[in-house]
Amino acid sequence: MPSRIEPTLAYAQQQDREDELKGFRSRFYFPRDESKVRPDGQTAAGGFGGEVIYFCGNSLGLQPREAEDYIRQELVDWREMAIDGYWRARNPWMTYPAVLRAPLARIVGALEEEITVMNALTVNLHLLLLSFYRPTAGRYKVLVEAGAFPSDQYAIETQTRWHGYDPAQAIVEIGPRPGERLIREEDILEAIAVHGDSLALVLLGGLNYYTGELFDLAAITTAAHKAGALAGFDLAHAVGNVLLRLHDWDVDFAVWCSYKYLNGGPGAAGGAFLHERFIRDITLPRMGGWWGNDESSRFNMQKGFIPKPTAEGWSMSTAQVFNMVCLKASLAIFDEAGFSRLLAKTRRLTGYLYTLLESLLGGGSRPFEIITPADPERRGAQLSLYFGDRAKGLQQQLADEGVIVDFRGPGVIRVSPAPLYNSFEDVYRFYHILKEL
Ligand SMILES: Cc1ncc(COP(=O)(O)O)c(C=O)c1O
Repeated sequence: MPSRIEPTLAYAQQQDREDELKGFRSRFYFPRDESKVRPDGQTAAGGFGGEVIYFCGNSLGLQPREAEDYIRQELVDWREMAIDGYWRARNPWMTYPAVLRAPLARIVGALEEEITVMNALTVNLHLLLLSFYRPTAGRYKVLVEAGAFPSDQYAIETQTRWHGYDPAQAIVEIGPRPGERLIREEDILEAIAVHGDSLALVLLGGLNYYTGELFDLAAITTAAHKAGALAGFDLAHAVGNVLLRLHDWDVDFAVWCSYKYLNGGPGAAGGAFLHERFIRDITLPRMGGWWGNDESSRFNMQKGFIPKPTAEGWSMSTAQVFNMVCLKASLAIFDEAGFSRLLAKTRRLTGYLYTLLESLLGGGSRPFEIITPADPERRGAQLSLYFGDRAKGLQQQLADEGVIVDFRGPGVIRVSPAPLYNSFEDVYRFYHILKEL
């Protein structure tokens, strides 16, 4: 990227020509809206044939074009082999989740055996809380971020109740200081120290869904351990989006969904990480099921749960192959592109977006506020723009122009250029349309 960033279409197109990952865009389907096509064949947003500018990969990633072939393969194997497909399918269904572990391990910085693909995020959060939230009379508190994603709030509220605690006593919320929008790292660390003796667990969204703020998972984990507590993370908005080193950072457990940056499709199977030090620990409480039982005795049809000595020992039910197929297709693209190259592109692409948006805030005019941290180390692809009361209406106006972004109350529009399929031209066109609006 040349040192001087320019707010011009020509500059954006030049960046795209120089982008070594530009070819991956054509591996995805972009949604179309024929009603937005003008007589010259362009949409208002500048795409041809009704193609929209899609900046919603933080909610639902786009469909990889190869996904259909991957699905067809399983349909063919099912049709032609039926039950034998568990062993003889091109991708034997018996071990289907296991082949997803290696590419995921590269993305989250884990050992393969620390990963399991199963269920969905909230279900997995509950399952891992059963193992890792084990309150005692003295140590029963859970430290969470104020305004965590509602499903996480419900999970921890109901877990504390299930253990017989009043959530108001057991849940410690840490939020931004008055007048601020982001949570300060130092405040999290201080809260951990303050509640240290009574803290059982620190449970945070690794990258906050509303603000786009990325927390220092390594420092938080170290502080939690120092206090005698465990550290777990919801990585829904972090996985496939930012650098993670879960094993090296000593994180105890983490869960994520696969339908955002991982492009696994709606309702795709979620993922979970358990640190190596736990995966062979048969004393940890857990809920057993035959798919978590060791393969050597799974079909003996006998009493006595013998958990697999890996994170898959937390699986329960038959692998949901059709909920994993599109994820498999997408992970193959991640491997082809190389995750570190994707992260480098995120810095440039979201950096470009940040600079262009900042230029709209000069000269005393403050039509919105970029609440996501300016520091690229503290964010991923997403920028959260606070428009207050205008946000909902503006999201609709953008949609009318062929730009898909999402709204999160109160007052925020989230804009996420995904490095696999978004371009600098997308970013420029978005900026231009926003400026006009
Ligand atoms: C941060 C976060 N946590 C949890 C969830 C819930 O995930 P699921 O519906 O797969 O349980 C979501 C869904 O978007 C999310 O964004």
